Amino acid sequence: MTKVFLSGAGSKPLFEQVYEYICTRIQRGEWKDDEKLPSVRELAAELEVHRLTVFKAYQLLKDARLVYVKDKSGYYVHPGNRLPFRDIDSPIVSSYIQKSHLSEIHRVPATYQFSYALIDPNLLPNRYFSEYVKEIFDLYPKVLSSYSTVQGDEELLETLSCYFTDRHRFHLPPEDIMITSGSQQAISLVAHMLVQPLDTVLIERPTYSAAIDIFRQQGAQIIPIDIHPHGYDLDQLEQVMKQFKPRLFYLNPTFHNPTGYTVPAAQRKRLVEMAEENRCFLVEDDPFHDMYFQQEPPAPLFTYGTEGYVIYIRSFSKYIAPGLRIAAICCRPVLMNHLFAVKSLADNGTPLLNQKVFHYYFTSKRLQQHIEKLRIALHIRKNILEEELAKTDWKWHSPAGGLNLWVELPDTLSLDALLAKSIEQSVSFVPGSICDPAKRADSWIRLSYSYINEQLLRDGARRLIRIADELERETKR
Ligand SMILES: Cc1ncc(COP(=O)(O)O)c(C=O)c1O
Repeated sequence: MTKVFLSGAGSKPLFEQVYEYICTRIQRGEWKDDEKLPSVRELAAELEVHRLTVFKAYQLLKDARLVYVKDKSGYYVHPGNRLPFRDIDSPIVSSYIQKSHLSEIHRVPATYQFSYALIDPNLLPNRYFSEYVKEIFDLYPKVLSSYSTVQGDEELLETLSCYFTDRHRFHLPPEDIMITSGSQQAISLVAHMLVQPLDTVLIERPTYSAAIDIFRQQGAQIIPIDIHPHGYDLDQLEQVMKQFKPRLFYLNPTFHNPTGYTVPAAQRKRLVEMAEENRCFLVEDDPFHDMYFQQEPPAPLFTYGTEGYVIYIRSFSKYIAPGLRIAAICCRPVLMNHLFAVKSLADNGTPLLNQKVFHYYFTSKRLQQHIEKLRIALHIRKNILEEELAKTDWKWHSPAGGLNLWVELPDTLSLDALLAKSIEQSVSFVPGSICDPAKRADSWIRLSYSYINEQLLRDGARRLIRIADELERETKR
């Protein structure tokens, strides 16, 4: 075998490296539940390390309840050990499977498209963009002949700095902001910057499925944290932070995807304090902040952070132009230096043309009018879907903003059968298991009301309900 153990200054202690080595092999399924592990002597010989080193690693695994000891017999893999997803060989493969599952659903040419958490392109300001592109070329004739700086276009950084100060009182200088190619890239950059294989990462359950894939690809051990209509169980969360010392908690606390839930203001402050005490970064993904129906949501967690443990990701994709791929990461200077390095490797800067076009629209009067109209349109669409669903015994918590309803179906209904029949009849939705890092959420579905128009929403909801009724009748027979 290739030895990978290092003992130089700055590297992890040898016994921790042996611990991680054993974890990885368990995670890959090389040693199964209740299987006997090599003895201390055997492993020490194999790895050419001292027996005491292996003994210490085994003690650590025992304390973490990943292995157990049988008297005079040795160490065994603890069944149901807390190494999630160990049945999956490679995080990249699992990610591919998960992605292809969602994109398979998206690829189905459904008339009643409830699976896209995107805003109906007819509600977006397409018409103005072609004008803007022409104007941008007049103003900046060399816009395509140069790179943006890695951090982002200076003009845009300046504008966002003022915007965040006015809107959220962040008091953020432009140097603490970076423009990224969408928030999906921002999550990926943060994951590359902060997460190493086997680091513990907390993720809400359910969550935005691409985030699960990104952290998995980094080799993180994922612990799901349940999100409820009124936030998290903070006592439980504190216990998890203390016990597992997670590197970060990825969260989407405002009009959360897929549930639409919003973490209340009272929890936000405590959550930030807790993260600071436990040195756990909070990666706050906030793409729906402006998509409220009537009342503004509570201020972002970032507002409460004083020690730099909150990283704020704000996408403008959803409600301005998904195709421009413009988002921003806000963080303190120490992190920004690292982020700079990761972003240069990723793409050396978000395309300048996109940033200029976005900037032009973002600073125009049209933006505010557009957002106000959009809020009304989304509110109407949500109400239509809810009106139709009210005729069933399905359950959901009515969101105050966002793009989705997270709906619990009766457990007598098979979700696989419902999805198959619905697709046959041109209705598509997202099954909850795709949004669940532990792949449960079997009786939940995500219905997005933002993509199709009012009439299609009503007809599609009726059709979905009819299919579910037929299936229930068939199972009763
Ligand atoms: C919670 C969440 N984060 C990030 C994204 C990705 O957004 P962007 O288009 O900015 O990459 C989405 C898109 O659906 C999302 O729902």
